[in-house]
Order: sequence, then C-alpha cells, then structure tokens
Amino acid sequence: MEERLLDPQITDEERELDLTLRPRRLDEFIGQDRIREHFRIFISAARERGESLDHVLLSGPPGLGKTTLAGIIANEMGVSLKQTSGPALERSGDLAAILTNLQDGDVLFIDEIHRINRTVEEVLYPAMEDYKIDIIIGRGPGARSIRLDLPRFTLVGATTRSGLLTSPLRDRFGVHSRLDYYDIGEMLDIVKRSARILGVSIDEEGALEIARRSRGTPRIANRLLRRVRDYAQVRAGGSIDRGVADEALSLFEVDQCGLDKVDKMILESIIFKFGGGPVGVNTLAVSVGEEIDTIEEVYEPYLLQIGFLQRTPRGRVVTEHAYRHLGISQDGDSTLF
Ligand SMILES: Nc1ncnc2c1ncn2[C@@H]1O[C@H](COP(=O)(O)OP(=O)(O)OP(=O)(O)O)[C@@H](O)[C@H]1O
Ligand SMILES: [Mg+2]
Repeated sequence: MEERLLDPQITDEERELDLTLRPRRLDEFIGQDRIREHFRIFISAARERGESLDHVLLSGPPGLGKTTLAGIIANEMGVSLKQTSGPALERSGDLAAILTNLQDGDVLFIDEIHRINRTVEEVLYPAMEDYKIDIIIGRGPGARSIRLDLPRFTLVGATTRSGLLTSPLRDRFGVHSRLDYYDIGEMLDIVKRSARILGVSIDEEGALEIARRSRGTPRIANRLLRRVRDYAQVRAGGSIDRGVADEALSLFEVDQCGLDKVDKMILESIIFKFGGGPVGVNTLAVSVGEEIDTIEEVYEPYLLQIGFLQRTPRGRVVTEHAYRHLGISQDGDSTLF
C-alpha cells in the first residue's frame, strides 16, 4: 500500500517512536494553552484534596495529542494509565474485567470511545457515576445480580467524533476539552523540540518550512521531519535548511499548504464534477473513492480550517481561496491564475 505522508493516523513505525517524542509532563506539551491551563488547575486541585480527577473527554482530529494528554494526566496525578479502545471492548465482561482491576486514582484511557457498543456503554454509566458495577452471576433461573464497588478511577475518553457520543455518556464527563489544529508558531516549536530529541541538525527557516506544511498536526510534523532528515542525509550533507526542506517536501508531493493528492482530488472533483458545489458528502465520497468517515474525520476538517472548503446546509462548497491555490479560474479553466 502506498504510504500517505499526510495521513494523520498513526503508523506502526510511529508507535515506537512515540515513546521518545511524546511529551510526558504538562510543561513539555506545546500549545493548546487554554486546555493546558485548565488541566493545571484541575490537577493541582484534585491533588490537594487527595481526590481522583473528574472524568475527562478529549475530542478533536487525529494526531493532535489526545493520547499524549491522557498520559500526561496520569503522570501529573502520579497514577498509572490503563489503555483500551471502544472497538476492543466487545462484551460488557471485557470492560468489567478492566474496571475491577484498577487501583484507586488510576486513569482508564478509552480511545475511540464513540465506537463503544451500547451494552458495554451501559456498564460505564454506574461505573462513572457511582463507581459501581452490576455483575450477573450464574445462568438461567438461578442467576442473580450483585453490585460491586470500584476504585475511584478517572475515565479519560478520546474521540475524533464527539457528535457521535450518546448524551447519557457525554453528560457523565465532568470535563470536555476540544483540541484544535496548532498554529504556525506552536508547530514551529514542536518541530524544533522533536529535532532536538532526534539529534537532527535543522535551522529556523528549515523548521518553519516543515511546520507550515504539517496541517497544524504534530504527528504529521514529526513524520515530515523524519522524511526530510532522510532526504538531507542522502542528498544534502545531513543538515536541513529552508531549501532542503522545500526540495524534499516537493519531491514527496506535499504542497505549500500541506495538501496531498487526496486533498487535491477532493477539491478538484467538487470543482470539475459538481461545478464547485454544493455537493453532499456521500456523493463526494463515491466520486473520490474514499470512505465517508475518512473524508469527514481526516480531510475535511483541515480544508475547512484553512478556508478552502465551506460547509453549507446543501453540501460542501469550494472557496475562491482554494481556486486560487490550485490555479483554477472560477469557470473551471485551469490557466487563468
Ligand atoms: N502538544 C504537543 N507538543 C509536542 N508534541 C506533541 C503534542 N501533541 C502531540 N504531539 C506529538 O504528536 C504525536 C501524536 O499525538 P497523539 O498520539 O497524542 O495524538 P492523538 O490525538 O491521540 O491521535 P489519534 O486521534 O490518532 O489517536 C505524539 O507522538 C507526540 O509526539
Ligand atoms: Mg491517540
């Protein structure tokens, strides 16, 4: 399968690298200032009272630091982190086993919590609210239900689609933080931090070029940094400056705004097949051969963020800004700009 350099989803290679690059303390976490400040307060307050932290829901596009924040919360609280995910919890017994094995104060991280199934979700309600679960013992007429006390744990749920959470589940989180794309200054700091940790030689302009083309997403910045480092090693004596970063990223088909082939296909298909829009996301997905979810979770948020796409009640519309960037005139002629 072709590697997609700008795919914000994690690759296997990155899972290992995460151990070195992932910030472990709130002080190392760059950007998202408001969220960081909130957590600093919640964490100090909970620690002073000797209590566990309220349940936390983290939402936002992939690769922005939800898993990282869950780890930081556990570290700062001085407790351990247990990880699972919505799809991994197939039966309510799977969740019950995890819950009953937690220690007081532990953080239970459930990734992709919007994909949890209803029967498992129902176990979470009393667990989150009263720190209790009901377990059925035996089968048939002799079966009975017993109520077990759980330790006072903190649930940290992560989701790319908070709109898909049921309201009973959403309402049981005391804190809901939405992570947003990072601005260019924050991305620059992230690239410089990663370069320092990896021992990559890069100057300010080189780092800025990578920051600019990373879609406001730290995971992509780290990936582009490593690819540009490879290029620099083979073609440019090992050091990264603006020219080297630009050559490398052009070679890898990452354009000036961080768009790749799929982004362009989405925009061009709206322009050439649907007169610039509006077009519904289902029709669009069929037309570019991508899953609706992938378009909605991965591509669209960034195109909306940089003002290339607009969402209207009747569908998606390409903006003038995007026409200019692609060098296409508004009548669909590709030579005017
Ligand atoms: N604020 C930050 N400062 C520095 N590095 C960061 C920051 N946020 C994320 N990173 C880096 O980006 C990588 C991706 O972050 P993380 O895995 O936490 O994203 P995520 O939101 O959990 O993504 P997904 O939705 O795919 O699970 C991490 O390995 C980390 O190195
Ligand atoms: Mg994650």
